[in-house]
Amino acid sequence: MMACTKIFGYYVIPLLFLFASIKCEKRSLNVSTLCMKEETVALLKVKKDLNDPSDYLSSWVGKDCCSWIGIQCDNQTGNILNLNLQPDLLSPSPLGGKINPSLADLKHLSHLDLSRNDFEGIPIPEFIGSLRRLNYLDLSYANFSGRVPSQLGFLSNLHYLNIDDVTRTLWVRDISWLSSLSSLQYLNMDGVNITDKPHQLFRSVNKMSSLLELHLSYCNLAYIPPSLPFLNITSLSVLDLSGNPFNSSIPSWLFNLSSLTELHLSDSSLTGLVPFTRGRHKLCKLEVLDLDFNDLTSDITEMIEALSCSNQSLRFLYLSDSQLTGKLPHSLGKFISLEDLDLFIYSENSHTGVSGPIPTSIGNLSSLESLNLGNNMMNGTIPESIGKLTNLYTLNLLENYWEGTMTNIHLHNLTNLISLSLSSKHNSFALKVTNDWVPTFKDLSNVEISSCQVGPTFPNWLRDQNSLNEIILESAGISGKIPHWLYNMSSQISYLDLSHNNISGYFPKQMNFTSSNTPSIDFSFNRLKGSIPLWSGVSALYLKNNLLSGTIPTNIAKEMSQLSYLDLSNNYLNGRIPLSLNETQNLFYLDLSNNYLLGEVPEFSTSMQNLEIIDLSNNSLSGGIPTSICSLPSLYILELNNNNLSANLSSAFENCIQLQTLSLENNKFFGSIPNEISKNIPSLSELLLRGNTLTGSIPKELCHLPSLHLLDLAENKFSGSIPTCLGNVNGFKIPQTYFNYSFLSSRVLRYVPYMKHTNLVINGRIVEYSKQTHSIIDLSKNNLSGEIPVNITQLIHLGALNLSWNHLTGNIPNNIGLLKDLENLDLSHNNLSGPIPTSMASMTFLSYLNLSYNNFSGQIPTANQFGTFNEPSIYEGNPRLCGKPLPSNCSSLLDRSGEQERKHGDDEKIERLKLYASIVAGYITGFWIVCGSLILKRSWRNAYFNFLYDMKDKFWF
Ligand SMILES: *[C@@H]1O[C@H](CO)[C@@H](O)[C@H](O)[C@H]1NC(C)=O
Ligand SMILES: *[C@@H]1O[C@H](CO)[C@@H](O)[C@H](O)[C@H]1NC(C)=O
Ligand SMILES: *[C@@H]1O[C@H](CO)[C@@H](O)[C@H](O)[C@H]1NC(C)=O
Ligand SMILES: *[C@@H]1O[C@H](CO)[C@@H](O)[C@H](O)[C@H]1NC(C)=O
Repeated sequence: MMACTKIFGYYVIPLLFLFASIKCEKRSLNVSTLCMKEETVALLKVKKDLNDPSDYLSSWVGKDCCSWIGIQCDNQTGNILNLNLQPDLLSPSPLGGKINPSLADLKHLSHLDLSRNDFEGIPIPEFIGSLRRLNYLDLSYANFSGRVPSQLGFLSNLHYLNIDDVTRTLWVRDISWLSSLSSLQYLNMDGVNITDKPHQLFRSVNKMSSLLELHLSYCNLAYIPPSLPFLNITSLSVLDLSGNPFNSSIPSWLFNLSSLTELHLSDSSLTGLVPFTRGRHKLCKLEVLDLDFNDLTSDITEMIEALSCSNQSLRFLYLSDSQLTGKLPHSLGKFISLEDLDLFIYSENSHTGVSGPIPTSIGNLSSLESLNLGNNMMNGTIPESIGKLTNLYTLNLLENYWEGTMTNIHLHNLTNLISLSLSSKHNSFALKVTNDWVPTFKDLSNVEISSCQVGPTFPNWLRDQNSLNEIILESAGISGKIPHWLYNMSSQISYLDLSHNNISGYFPKQMNFTSSNTPSIDFSFNRLKGSIPLWSGVSALYLKNNLLSGTIPTNIAKEMSQLSYLDLSNNYLNGRIPLSLNETQNLFYLDLSNNYLLGEVPEFSTSMQNLEIIDLSNNSLSGGIPTSICSLPSLYILELNNNNLSANLSSAFENCIQLQTLSLENNKFFGSIPNEISKNIPSLSELLLRGNTLTGSIPKELCHLPSLHLLDLAENKFSGSIPTCLGNVNGFKIPQTYFNYSFLSSRVLRYVPYMKHTNLVINGRIVEYSKQTHSIIDLSKNNLSGEIPVNITQLIHLGALNLSWNHLTGNIPNNIGLLKDLENLDLSHNNLSGPIPTSMASMTFLSYLNLSYNNFSGQIPTANQFGTFNEPSIYEGNPRLCGKPLPSNCSSLLDRSGEQERKHGDDEKIERLKLYASIVAGYITGFWIVCGSLILKRSWRNAYFNFLYDMKDKFWF
């Protein structure tokens, strides 16, 4: 993603530029010299082979080829010197087709430009190498592919060579031909896969003593010479080596290139220190330094100080996600030309970055337009001198450890401000402005102030902004009602997040959202009352955790036909789920959980092509499961747990091809798990059926579900034995990660994780698991008999195994210690016997164990974890078990009959039964969806926004 952003920046912007410059060139083309006959013939052959859908070459008729579009002749000899077929910016379709070899008859051609056409993947023609007089060759963005012909090496007069390949389908193996192009001033091979001989490449390039610009980004170069014996390319002004997998430190010769104005090294797996020490005073003309997305270990203080030579020239300093540490030095204030300082860290939960306060000298950066310090480790108060940055249009101070208070003094003179983002991980940060403050900026378009005390009143200074479209005031301590001026602004809003405040009152019925803005509205975690508002045009509506009541309006689909996310969970809604939800064809995510909804699960229409997640859990729904559920082509999470649903499971869920998570816990489902389950729900990875009245045996077919990693069948009436094939299920053998369940968020164009939790009763305790990241088998409280399958020990990433309260017999498999990730093991209340295997001592993650009420015998192991299990109750009810923490010492037990002991144990068993029953009755399924808030995750949003402004920067070079 990062890489893409960058490519986009580097490729698209120059593209716009070239279009602009070419247009000017074309105006001066009309020279009326009669051109050579052979050359006319050659051009007509070229024309014949080209596809020209927009008739760009319509002027290519008659004999006077020098007046044709794209042609320039020598006004003495009439020879064609210049052939420029780059399409007009406004031309709907570029040229395509073949390039006729008679092009090579234009022997005098010195300038050839075929860029921005679409040659649909044909190779670059080798005969171009015979145009020996060429000094300018531009084949960029023309959709050529395959090998770059070595014949280009014959063009020894070339000053300009551009084969920039945005599609990354060109490649070069032997680059030695490049060494004959020693007159090059401009070389651009961005995106060309240069796999072999990168040494040769740098040797050839170093011969080009006239070289001014070198672009070798995304060339798959795995090598950069650590040193050069002699530096010939001393005139080099622009060097772009970004996006190559160098995996090395930054070679110091780069910092001896004293003419450099731009150095781009982003996303290049560069490590270690930035080698300023030797180049300290060399890069004195630098205007752009881009080290984004690397793994540098430099201290930013040293770096800024080493750059001091360029403190008059440096305009753009990109150090985002480059792993720099240290503090911003006072000397930063000397960079008076600096327009953009970007230290943003993209990775979530990063614990690295720049620390310390913002130096007060920041106020001297009078050219600064964009300051982005988001997601670092900075602290202290924000200096008032920031208010002197009158050119600033974007200020991003998100997610640091700011303290103290910002006031209107900080912001008042930022007349150009377009984007303001503030938040702190320190809870004493506040933004306090005077009541009557009217900012000098009027065109704020994005404001995010979160985890920062702004309230208790709504920030009224926002009301005069003309073009606000993103308003995020999350966890901002705002209480009271929604102000009226916000409604007036609604038509321009694309994003409104007022979640996690104390906003009360009712929603206004009329909001004037505009569907083309795809507005996303989040009022979750407030104290809003009344019924569900029907706001047309809205695409995402999050009202989770409020005091909303009443029914879901039946006309919701009609009024809000654009809905793609709807989260009304944790409110007081009642009544039935309206059938008409069917008509929200864009719906992707539906969460109505934790309400008081009644009636049946509605039929869903197959036209809901995008519906991926349905959560209706924790309501009072009754009836069965509509068969149409399985005809939703994208459905992959279905949460219906904790309702009153009742149906025979044997016949539900046929052909649920996509379904991955099926949560039906605590309902009244009956019947058995169908044998065809692996055919009907082949993608199933989480099956939660706890707390129903299911019968029959656990079918072997479950073992044919390759992704299964959560199997909760507890508290049912399953009988028979545990299928021995369970040990073969791959899902339990691979570590689970969050991104298994990510989905594409329409807003940020990123995959975001969806996470729900499930509670299991383990060892009498309620343990919360995140479904997507844990491997769990819970078969407790059934009527299972037989032995624990030996090969269950192959499920090496199993995190919890609960087989308690069944009638299992036999031994614990000897090598159970192979379950290295096991944290919870409950085998209590069975008829298991034999010793506790010593291999269990190697289960170092095991933190909860219960072996009580079985017939285990022998000595309790004492090694490792067992030293910490000193609660006797986890072993009790096993009269033949001895050793710590039980009172019975092993030597005496051997002589005694266990009879009396066992009887005593039974009494106690009944007592514990009562206790367990009460715990289970109090069982709650807790859950938590990150979805809503993560979709909107601020740094991603920020990244996106920042990217737009990055483009702007790059455009204005
Ligand atoms: C050709 O014409 C252009 C403009 O008419 C002129 O500037 C240029 O000097 C001419 N070239 C020669 C070689 O006469
Ligand atoms: C570049 O070429 C190498 C070798 O032919 C190939 O393995 C690699 O996948 C290519 N890389 C790209 C980005 O096309
Ligand atoms: C430097 O450039 C000159 C002139 O092009 C060339 O003769 C010489 O070999 C080059 N030196 C190196 C080390 O490549
Ligand atoms: C900032 O953090 C550093 C390191 O944790 C600490 O030493 C320093 O006192 C903090 N500064 C302020 C102003 O809180």
